[in-house]
Amino acid sequence: MSDGSSFYITTPIFYVNDVPHIGHAYTEVAVDVLARWHRQRGDDTWLLTGTDEHGQKILRTATANGVSPKEWADRLVETAWKPLLETVNIANDDFIRTTDERHERNAQKFLQHLYDAGHIYTGEYEGYYCVGCEEYKQTTDLVDGTGEYAGQPVCAIHSKPVELLHEKNYFFRMSAFADELLALYEANPNFIQPESARNEVISFVKSGLSDLSISRSSFDWGIKVPWDETHVVYVWFDALLNYITAIGYGEDEDTFNSRWPATHVVGKDILRFHAVIWPAMLLAASVPVPKQIFGHGWLLVGGEKMSKSKLTGIAPSQITDTFGSDAFRYYFMRAISFGQDGSFSWEDLSARYQSELANGFGNLASRVIAMVVRYCDGVIPTAGPLSERDAAIHATELRATDAAGEAIDRLAIHEALTAVWELVDELNGYLTLEEPWSLAKDPAKRERLETVLATAVRGLGTLAVLLSPVVPLATAKLWTALGGTGVVTDQRIDQASEWTGSGRVAPLEALFPRIEATVEAAAAVPAAPAVTAVPVTEPHNA
Ligand code: ME8
Ligand code: MG
Repeated sequence: MSDGSSFYITTPIFYVNDVPHIGHAYTEVAVDVLARWHRQRGDDTWLLTGTDEHGQKILRTATANGVSPKEWADRLVETAWKPLLETVNIANDDFIRTTDERHERNAQKFLQHLYDAGHIYTGEYEGYYCVGCEEYKQTTDLVDGTGEYAGQPVCAIHSKPVELLHEKNYFFRMSAFADELLALYEANPNFIQPESARNEVISFVKSGLSDLSISRSSFDWGIKVPWDETHVVYVWFDALLNYITAIGYGEDEDTFNSRWPATHVVGKDILRFHAVIWPAMLLAASVPVPKQIFGHGWLLVGGEKMSKSKLTGIAPSQITDTFGSDAFRYYFMRAISFGQDGSFSWEDLSARYQSELANGFGNLASRVIAMVVRYCDGVIPTAGPLSERDAAIHATELRATDAAGEAIDRLAIHEALTAVWELVDELNGYLTLEEPWSLAKDPAKRERLETVLATAVRGLGTLAVLLSPVVPLATAKLWTALGGTGVVTDQRIDQASEWTGSGRVAPLEALFPRIEATVEAAAAVPAAPAVTAVPVTEPHNA
């Protein structure tokens, strides 16, 4: 377990062509859980998120809506992307926009540096471009269109036609780094995770790496190429640099060195940009490569990736308005193996809410606190001699603490929750077997009653500390009810099993109230109109 070491974690910066859906919220939550966990471990933690605002996709959307791209981006950032962080309760340390001065200035420095070092040349390129991906496509990335696009090649991700472009561009000599990249993947198996993502990237690079077109001259919504202002920087080249410009690259070396390198969490749709192009850019600039790139799976709708362009998005608030942000966070972290695809369903969400959060955890907390109030006048009792069952609870606390921490180190968030839930289930089973309500009826069993309640309170404290990164609102309430000192987010998570209660408990409202009446109403909201809270008329191909 680390202590005081630097932990810098990032989300992708999201395109502001439309409002967020639960896929974006999913990445934000996962990264936030990891960051909160590391903060509670005493690491010097920094969570960066933000928005990707340049390029043709944003330009076209803004134009179609009759505003300038900057106005469009401002509107979306303020009305949709920053509010998303509130909706799912993200504790980010910074929010970068690629239109920030600090980013544009230092992205240009990076580019100039590459140019001066001879990694950039002028060339011509003709190829199929997908504006949805903001990427030139190989023919192997295309499929036959269907419906209105029948007979045309379309992007396999966006199902929309690609455009044949012919431009004079600046190129980054990326092919020169193929061997170095392969050696890097080989030497550090954790560099790309999970394993499936790593394998995909390795075989992609082995199949041959081309140079990369890094400028565009047919439109001007982007960062100007410093030595040729008739070109703007290719939007991906611009966007990837956010991870270093946000922490002082180019102007605050001390801060930069104290945070870099980062753990990048991205969806598998943009894995190659992060695992191939980005480290090649850094190698060329003699900047250390990232610590890790983790490609998580997709939230699927009807077997396909939930997406803005296909209008299959569900707005995060559709879920949080009914279930709350804690339930949103818990559900997606528990129900989907981090790294694999998963399908969202209202039925699964309500079932887990009811059985795991309301009945499993919430009810456990309410019962234990209520019994301390009723049988001990609210004073947390001291344990007497421990029975085997009491000792088993302590052993589970320790096991859950260690196993969860170990799972977090592998970014296996779902496994961390499974480990913690063993304690929830065991505590519930413990109460069923010990029957404190029966012990309370017999004055001769007073000591036993106090030991059982002390053990249960102690287990609850451990749960509050361990679950704080995932369900911060509920655990803050529970911590207060348990009479814990300070705030739960200041409790060392790697020592969660060591907490023992003392003093008084305070009344606790239901942590996860029953909500079945509204579940059907929430599920009945049609997905597409809800996500388009800001009217967006997407032009062809965006
Ligand atoms: O790609 N399931 O931005 P973007 C899970 N600007 N995650 C999903 C998802 C789904 N169905 N849909 C989206 C870009 N995501 C670039 C990134 S980074 C330097 C530039 C999440 O708005 C997931 O994290 O298209 C995915 O990688 C990201 O949103 C893509 O967001
Ligand atoms: Mg996308």
